[in-house]
Amino acid sequence: MIETGLRGRVVVVTGAAAGIGRTTAVRFALEGARVAAWDVQHGGSDLSGELRAAGGEGHVQKVDVTSREAVEQAAAEVVTRWGAIHVLVNNAGILRDGLLVKYKEGALQGVMSDEQFESVINVNLKGVFVCTRAVAPRMIAAGGGVILNASSVVGLYGNFGQTNYVATKAGVIGMTKVWARELGRHNIRVNAVAPGFIATEMVRQMPEKVLERMKAGTPLGRLGQPEDIANAYVWLASDAAAFVNGAVLSVDGGVVTGTI
Ligand code: NAI
Repeated sequence: MIETGLRGRVVVVTGAAAGIGRTTAVRFALEGARVAAWDVQHGGSDLSGELRAAGGEGHVQKVDVTSREAVEQAAAEVVTRWGAIHVLVNNAGILRDGLLVKYKEGALQGVMSDEQFESVINVNLKGVFVCTRAVAPRMIAAGGGVILNASSVVGLYGNFGQTNYVATKAGVIGMTKVWARELGRHNIRVNAVAPGFIATEMVRQMPEKVLERMKAGTPLGRLGQPEDIANAYVWLASDAAAFVNGAVLSVDGGVVTGTI
């Protein structure tokens, strides 16, 4: 049994109302962490209660990661409540898929709009920047910490219909590597996780044909579960990963270029 050292640590998870973020928040609570769950939406059920029931402490905050003011206020609130922030999981993300240029029978049907591009950049890339900029000084004040960023398998290999999304997921890898260098001297480790195709609501709503293609393109022959990603975040945040910095951990069942 590896001691994670996460009991009592203060963990912020963005996009924690649903999907991978929610499972990650609960997984940290199972380690006895104090979890601040940030999201633009409240989600259906009682996340605070779920975090407490898991053995941690929970604090649910309505935060839009694209808003500097909201993020600053939320980070200050966490420190007032629990004295520090030790771990930040930059998980919040959205999709607005579409082809760069769409043709049918030789005729241009449409393009990816500025709004489509900018909205995804704002949440998935700028949101990671805004949250990290607000939290890093508070981690430095606490003597160090761990920052974990949600990239994606498509940030490594590209994907049809995802110019905007892939730009953000590749960009997140770039920021991870910069911050691993800049913040290492402050005892802050910064790593990214690149999930493959994970069975969240977002993915489950895709047409059966697309889901089958995703499974077929994954050497392990199945979609990942949110727990697969949450476990990776917990390990990277733990003392067991104390010398892991600037890494991109693929958690994708073995997807490589050519399988998708
Ligand atoms: P999801 O759509 O189930 O949950 C995302 C959460 O982020 C939602 O609760 C949503 O309200 C929140 N959110 C959206 N905009 C926000 C904002 N401006 N401020 C705060 N919260 C906001 O997504 P899922 O599938 O759980 O994905 C989580 C992360 O993992 C995302 O960054 C996604 O890009 C990444 N990922 C997911 C994969 C998958 O197959 N599901 C694969 C690779 C990466």
